[in-house]
Amino acid sequence: MRLDEQAFIEYLEVKKSIDDRSLNCAVWKTLVTAMPPATCEQPWQILEIGAGIGTMVRRLIEWDFLRYADYTALDACATFLEEGRRRLSNWARAMGLEALSEGQRLRISDRSRDIRINFVDAELSRWLKEAAPQERYDLLIAHAFLDLVNLEETLPGLMRCLKKDGLFYFTLNFDGLTLLEPPIEETLDEGILSFYHRTMEERRAGEKPSAGALSGRRLLRALERAGGTLLRAGASDWVVHSVEGQYPAGEERFLQFFLQMVEEALRGHNAIDPSRLEAWFGARRDQLQRGELSLIVHQLDCVGRRR
Ligand SMILES: C[S@@+](CC[C@H](N)C(=O)[O-])C[C@H]1O[C@@H](n2cnc3c(N)ncnc32)[C@H](O)[C@@H]1O
Repeated sequence: MRLDEQAFIEYLEVKKSIDDRSLNCAVWKTLVTAMPPATCEQPWQILEIGAGIGTMVRRLIEWDFLRYADYTALDACATFLEEGRRRLSNWARAMGLEALSEGQRLRISDRSRDIRINFVDAELSRWLKEAAPQERYDLLIAHAFLDLVNLEETLPGLMRCLKKDGLFYFTLNFDGLTLLEPPIEETLDEGILSFYHRTMEERRAGEKPSAGALSGRRLLRALERAGGTLLRAGASDWVVHSVEGQYPAGEERFLQFFLQMVEEALRGHNAIDPSRLEAWFGARRDQLQRGELSLIVHQLDCVGRRR
């Protein structure tokens, strides 16, 4: 994934509406039911890791889930967090909410909510070793993130940040299937996409392998060993397609970014003849321009509790 920071910010923004409709409803309802009530005196303590530009905070307010909360949004990229703070505060004001910036914090409030967001610029494994509070959080969120870390190394430390019985909500965990429709040449389609998955499998998290292309199923296996109990899991596949030849707002751009990320992942590997590869990407972009290209990506969500 080598989009530059500005392009990646735009990618995260256009991804939001696709994620909104992809998140698994049964998993979401399990989370909503399992959370204890939040009050002004006892706000939820929430940690989100790999928070990017803060689209999850926005979603949780839009879905009327967040009312009273101290929300820590952690990411290794200061530019994303800064952009997140700016976007969230503009969005909140446009929604008629009050938005107050206080240093690294943003407070979003109105008569029935008070949400204090603390943006923490930190690399996760280092933060877990050096700064993470123990048994502090009621809820831990990771959205489109856990494929990047080594699960065995990271999950136990994350679980220790949760209060006993605290909940985790791990969403959009890629699980090994990418389909582009309609086919161009089946064996070439399959070769390119399985090579793309291989580049994810080769990705390292420090010295160790990352959860990679099968992060969804690996996560389900790793949870129990890390001290978690699964309450509900389900699919959160992306299904992106045009409607009567037109892509809904932003989704054409999302598909352009997606093709670019696959192309960049494959660049420099000589597994596939470069001229065939170039022709294949050209044909995919032509399909996109004609409104014919669809994308299906299999992902898993899960919610559970610290044992
Ligand atoms: C695929 S993006 C997802 C962002 C956000 N959750 C969303 O879906 O909009 C992954 C995010 O994780 C952050 N990240 C990657 N590795 C990290 C690490 N080791 N520690 C902290 N953040 C990291 C990146 O900067 C990026 O913002």
